[in-house]
Amino acid sequence: MILARGPGTLFRPVYTRTVMGGGGSDGSRLTFDVLAGARDLEREGEELRRLLGERPRSIPSHYFYDGRGSRLFDQITRLPEYYLTRAEAEILEREADHIIARAGAFELMELGSGMSTKTRILLDAMERADHLHRYIPFDVSEPAVRDAAGALARAYPELRIHGVVGEFDRHLAAIPPGERRLVMLIGSTIGNFEREPARQLLRRIAEPMAAGDWFLLGADLVKDPAILEAAYNDSRGVTAEFNLNILSVVNEAFDGDFPTELYRHRAFYDRKRERIEMRLVADRAHRVELAGLGLNLEIAAGEEIRTEISCKYRREVIEELLAGSGFGLADWLTDGEELFGLALARREG
Ligand code: SAH
Ligand code: AVI
Repeated sequence: MILARGPGTLFRPVYTRTVMGGGGSDGSRLTFDVLAGARDLEREGEELRRLLGERPRSIPSHYFYDGRGSRLFDQITRLPEYYLTRAEAEILEREADHIIARAGAFELMELGSGMSTKTRILLDAMERADHLHRYIPFDVSEPAVRDAAGALARAYPELRIHGVVGEFDRHLAAIPPGERRLVMLIGSTIGNFEREPARQLLRRIAEPMAAGDWFLLGADLVKDPAILEAAYNDSRGVTAEFNLNILSVVNEAFDGDFPTELYRHRAFYDRKRERIEMRLVADRAHRVELAGLGLNLEIAAGEEIRTEISCKYRREVIEELLAGSGFGLADWLTDGEELFGLALARREG
């Protein structure tokens, strides 16, 4: 075993492969690829410098997900106000056998897999269909991929797992090829992208797929703003903790001194753009140094740093996004209250 996660390991400019167990087609049951520069200090540093210089300032939301951030997100998924995970799980529980049969899937590849919790619903369906072959979790968070893969390996002794630690923008092409594979991007992760970057991400996902291959996309739906705002302002303050954690991750990555105690969580629904925005609001004026970037910031009292957008969708928009990326919508599945939508789509030729 190598690669325990610790301070200073957020950016690792190496490619490593770890293989454990036995019995897989490549002689292994559990394989991990940590891709070259899964987090690339120089490139990401330049992007962060640019975004912190704009108004409003912003931090890319993938910085939420160090080990602590992934665990906090997992807690969010169990909060009473955060209906998204429960609604999506409800659809999967009802439709998993249908999805696996329709896609003829022997392999699942999950992008932004996190703790791979809902994945089990599909793996169970694959097991019932005697289709359980391989699972490929892909995520920027190495602790999440390792923990999830370890737990699934224990729960499904027949399953081969090939975890990939990588970033959507740069490493999708490095995912091992496979056949009879269902690719999925669930959990409303697509919502964290503006329209054009979302289309680009879907195109990059579609690119290596063959005509007839299947794709499952999970999207949160437009609804009563009160329900949406409650989901991102939970009464236990877990979302606030998750939001503030982004400053600690940036501090660690770029030798910074963002004073987390001076910031407050803010989340609101933008009705026109149909999206939640999460921000961090500075209580008073202060200076921040990010020594790793040679960057000094003067933050004003009341200034806001945007940390996330979470777009809410209508079926027509999802259909249009899919069509513009080489997919045709085959099935549109929602929960009983129509809170969340799952699009089962097919790569067009
Ligand atoms: N699919 C899970 C987790 C969703 S949270 C669920 O449905 O609950 C979003 C996941 O995407 C996180 O695990 C995060 O680490 C990952 N992620 C966010 N930005 C990413 C990026 N740019 N590249 C790769 N993974 C990313
Ligand atoms: C991961 N992503 C889809 C979550 C969302 O709902 O946009 C992240 C999150 N942010 C606050 N709560 C949950």
